[in-house]
Amino acid sequence: MTTILTTGGAGYIGSHITLELLNSGYDVVVFDNFHNSSRKSIERVSRITNGAPKLVEGDIRDQAALDALFASHKIDAVIHLAGLKAVGESVARPAFYYDVNVAGSTALFNAMLKHGVRHAVFSSSATVYGEPEIMPIEETTATAPVNPYGKTKLMVEQILTDITGIGEGWRSMVLRYFNPVGAHISGQIGEDPLGFPDNLFPFIAQVATGRREKLNIFGDDYPTPDGTAIRDYIHVMDLARGHVKAIDYLLSERAENNQTPIVNLGTGNGFSVKEVHAAWQKACGFNIPAEITARRDGDVTIYCADASKAEALLGWKASQGLAEMCEDHWRWQKANPQGYS
Ligand code: NAD
Ligand code: UFG
Repeated sequence: MTTILTTGGAGYIGSHITLELLNSGYDVVVFDNFHNSSRKSIERVSRITNGAPKLVEGDIRDQAALDALFASHKIDAVIHLAGLKAVGESVARPAFYYDVNVAGSTALFNAMLKHGVRHAVFSSSATVYGEPEIMPIEETTATAPVNPYGKTKLMVEQILTDITGIGEGWRSMVLRYFNPVGAHISGQIGEDPLGFPDNLFPFIAQVATGRREKLNIFGDDYPTPDGTAIRDYIHVMDLARGHVKAIDYLLSERAENNQTPIVNLGTGNGFSVKEVHAAWQKACGFNIPAEITARRDGDVTIYCADASKAEALLGWKASQGLAEMCEDHWRWQKANPQGYS
């Protein structure tokens, strides 16, 4: 059996990846400190798959815990998702973000070096591109992150690239996600933001269940057809399948030693906030109150991936559209109005 370690595997994206790895015949070990997740996500994953992941509780900054993890499990490759991801919090608490995201990642890579584990997939973000003027965004587009969160992602990309560049037998991959949304079709696992939801899908979902009064649409004076900002939303199950393809690739003869390809994971299609709102109303079958408010600081007009490299290198292409993203996110939220709690 080939065993994949998912750090942060109990979180929103990690739980879907863990599920998809199990369904693809991999064994999975999840390492998570539950800073932003619940054990229940892993219990649910076990319920809806044939296999069950092993769960190890620990912090990626804890070198001894990582050593014990690699000493007691034969790991073939790592998908490194653990970390902090709130842009606003990263501006308020930069030291915390650099510690968890950067120092935590180097601790993980040191443990991999010590234990001879030589394949890593790193969860990066399209936010590393900052505010590019040319759309769609290619992997060769210049990086210019504008907040500490984005800077930590770019730093870890560079650290992993350098380690992979000289490590004997090392092969790695950086995946830059656009806007992951939706949930597994079972409605058993999904996004469960603790506190106030910053992002569009979880916010609309909470309006739909009545937890929040209305959606605030941040600005309708953008230079887009309907005036609202456009993003490249990607179904979390498509994203999960992209990770399985990345692992398949790294463990195959196709991958080159000492290389760390960078790959965008998006659909290549953009939707405006108003289009997303309309698709949600269709998925729910009722009106979702919304109001136009001022623009949100730091938002860009349009963010859209050129997703062709993923298809060429990995044979992966997103297949799920906006309607499925809304239907699946709604199924999860409706069945679990308070998330996992
Ligand atoms: P999430 O918060 O749901 O998952 C992150 C997981 O890491 C959580 O389970 C959390 O408990 C765990 N974690 C945090 N600090 C840890 C630590 N010190 N030690 C061990 N575990 C720790 O977030 P997500 O949306 O699933 O994101 C997963 C990864 O994808 C993150 O690295 C994030 O930066 C990246 N990403 C997310 C998005 C997005 O929009 N959700 C976009 C681009 C990239
Ligand atoms: N929006 C609203 N109302 C809301 C929430 C969002 O109108 O209540 C709008 C935003 O203004 C934006 C769009 O919906 O135009 C999408 O917003 P999200 O917050 O869902 O996503 P972003 O594209 O702003 O942010 C995401 C990730 C960040 C990452 C960024 C760039 O959440 O972590 O992409 O890659 F930094």
